[in-house]
Amino acid sequence: MSESGREWWRSAVFYQIYPRSFADADGDGMGDLPGITSRLGDLAELGVDAIWLSPFYLSPMHDAGYDVADFRQVDPRFGTLADARTLIEEVHRLGMRLIVDLVPNHTSDEHVWFTAALASPPGSRERARYLFRDGIGPAGDQPPNNWRSVFGGSAWTRVTEADGGHGQWYLHLFDSSQPDLNWSNREVHEEVLDVMRFWLDHGVDGFRVDVAHSLIKVDDLPDWHYPTEHHDPFATANEGGALPPMWDQEEVHEVYREWRRLLDSYDGDRIAVAEAWVFPYSRLARYSRPDELHQAFNFPYLETSWAAQEQRAVIDLSMKESGAVGAPVTWVLSNHDVIRHATRFGYPPHDPTAAGHAGISSRSPQPNTELGLLRARAATLVMLALPGSAYLYQGEELGLPEHTTLPDERRQDPTYVRTGGEMVGRDGCRVPIPWHGDAPSYGFGPAETSWLPQPAQWAALSRAAQTGVDGSTLELYRTALELRRSLGLGLGELTWAEGYDSFETIALHRPGGVLVIANLGEQPVAVPDGATVLVASAELIHTDAGLAVPTDVTVWLGVSS
Ligand code: GLC
Repeated sequence: MSESGREWWRSAVFYQIYPRSFADADGDGMGDLPGITSRLGDLAELGVDAIWLSPFYLSPMHDAGYDVADFRQVDPRFGTLADARTLIEEVHRLGMRLIVDLVPNHTSDEHVWFTAALASPPGSRERARYLFRDGIGPAGDQPPNNWRSVFGGSAWTRVTEADGGHGQWYLHLFDSSQPDLNWSNREVHEEVLDVMRFWLDHGVDGFRVDVAHSLIKVDDLPDWHYPTEHHDPFATANEGGALPPMWDQEEVHEVYREWRRLLDSYDGDRIAVAEAWVFPYSRLARYSRPDELHQAFNFPYLETSWAAQEQRAVIDLSMKESGAVGAPVTWVLSNHDVIRHATRFGYPPHDPTAAGHAGISSRSPQPNTELGLLRARAATLVMLALPGSAYLYQGEELGLPEHTTLPDERRQDPTYVRTGGEMVGRDGCRVPIPWHGDAPSYGFGPAETSWLPQPAQWAALSRAAQTGVDGSTLELYRTALELRRSLGLGLGELTWAEGYDSFETIALHRPGGVLVIANLGEQPVAVPDGATVLVASAELIHTDAGLAVPTDVTVWLGVSS
């Protein structure tokens, strides 16, 4: 299907913009909407089909904008509603689509609903929009259950009642500044539907749904026997196979059926993609059934090591399970919550530092950055050859690594404080991106410094330094995206190529005579006679037997089909 035609999303390449770190027009050291608008031409030229914009709404910024105080207002640090309108128009003028973040699980504690709830007595209509409960024990000074916050510590905070006395507790699966909404309350459904209408009426093409698996909790909020002592925020079953009472509840699917009806009532093929940390894949796929959301992020793929058999297995699984519900697979390697893949792959497969959500600090083992980038480029070239939709995270087209030595005093992720520094958190993947090596904050904006400091090595990785440079990561992405589009790789079948070792290679055929070979083994892999090289993630080598793909390199070949 063409990019502009129906069901554009089935094969679209999305580019995630993290607004505070993309481009700073007003020079306050934090990115903004006018900054983004001024750079949209670069994204169109890169060859992406659509943009996903992380939250830019009014927020006290305790969780970088995922703590929303007003879903219908733009935070002044990012601009105005008029700036948002201009941005939406400009994206469309350039022939791209735009989806925005929708954060339905919680509000900020500065949202008018929450301040009203605090000012109102237990049992009031105002409190019923959130999950307030009495504490346990004669003095009510123990939290109502044992649930943990994803960011560390208890998921409950006790409030002071209007009369000054200790009062009830409220649930927050994330930071204490992010009270969970009560999705058993119809008023909450109506409000979120109205917020969706607000942005759809402004012309957005859809939504990325934040923690889509968390909205519904088991009614009486029972204690949960956590799977391990280790902090695993999104564990979706414990050793006994029981499902957690706060994630992936059946009733959440009813919510998405209603949302789908709303999206379908608009013209222009509007969509929603679920951020759901749900395993196994068969449960994740349920979020993208035909009458629910259109897609779900493929986190099982993101979490797969650079090991051929595991990569092959997760590709098969994704195609099978998404195929079973008629949804396109999404492919994603990086986002604003995980260690950038150029760094993850710089550790040995299964290394605990690179896995999970703990983040990296100067106290952690450091990655092999050269190897990481080599593998990241190879992995990206596999990803962009696969049928379905792909999500890129800003800066990966520059080959940016994680900032692995951020000074602790600059960290802003609430995880750092809530875990007492045990998990340093996600700041390392959120550092403002470099545009020009020789400008202040590497062209991110006119200010000398940015809200998170950029590593000195990033000057050489700036967009300007890579533009037009043969072999740069930026040109690799540009070429791959252009080929993906012209060859129609986003749609159609995938078949494994025969004669390639499944422990050493990922080798597959795509329609139109495209053979993809990724070498994850130790020996060079021969390029078949007569094949033409379309694009390679690094230089191929010449052996006695002819042209070959070296270790940690992916190539797309044109072969007669
Ligand atoms: C999602 C977001 C993450 C945020 C959390 C709470 O996982 O991607 O950045 O902290 O939800 O809103």
